[in-house]
Amino acid sequence: MITHSPAETRALGATLARQLLPGDVLVLEGDLGAGKSELTRGIARGLGISGPVASPSFTILNVYDEGRIPLYHFDWYRLSGVDELYDMGLDEYLGGDGIAVVEWPSRCPEAIPDNHLLVTIIPIDETTREILWTPRGAFRKIEEGIL
Ligand SMILES: Nc1ncnc2c1ncn2[C@@H]1O[C@H](COP(=O)(O)OP(=O)(O)OP(=O)(O)O)[C@@H](O)[C@H]1O
Ligand SMILES: [Mg+2]
Repeated sequence: MITHSPAETRALGATLARQLLPGDVLVLEGDLGAGKSELTRGIARGLGISGPVASPSFTILNVYDEGRIPLYHFDWYRLSGVDELYDMGLDEYLGGDGIAVVEWPSRCPEAIPDNHLLVTIIPIDETTREILWTPRGAFRKIEEGIL
């Protein structure tokens, strides 16, 4: 999939959200400024979360409870390691009753459940992004036709 603006990336996230189920884990790969948080904002809108969706960089996890399904938005950029997740009990939010979205999964790959949807965001130019979906483990196929 190709998007040509942040708004298009959010729209894609909102459409994707309609196919998501409780317990789903989405792993977002992409460099700084690729658009991981923009996509997550779209997912939040698609779940019926109306307030602002900030980057959780300084909190590791932001929880949004007001939508169709709870959204657990992780950003592991500043995570020191898996111990920090376990110490705070945050691992419980991966594959629980809500949808977990993880930015910077590479900081702690051992905490990622085997079954997840890998989303890769590749900047093509200033406003263009290529977005790829790869189901991992037993994660079901996402129908791109309706995205
Ligand atoms: N097609 C596009 N899709 C998404 N973002 C875009 C697009 N075109 C331009 N942008 C810009 O790219 C930036 C994406 O920022 P965003 O915070 O979503 O990145 P991120 O991947 O979450 O980065 P970080 O690793 O710092 O958390 C924004 O400034 C946005 O306006
Ligand atoms: Mg981000």
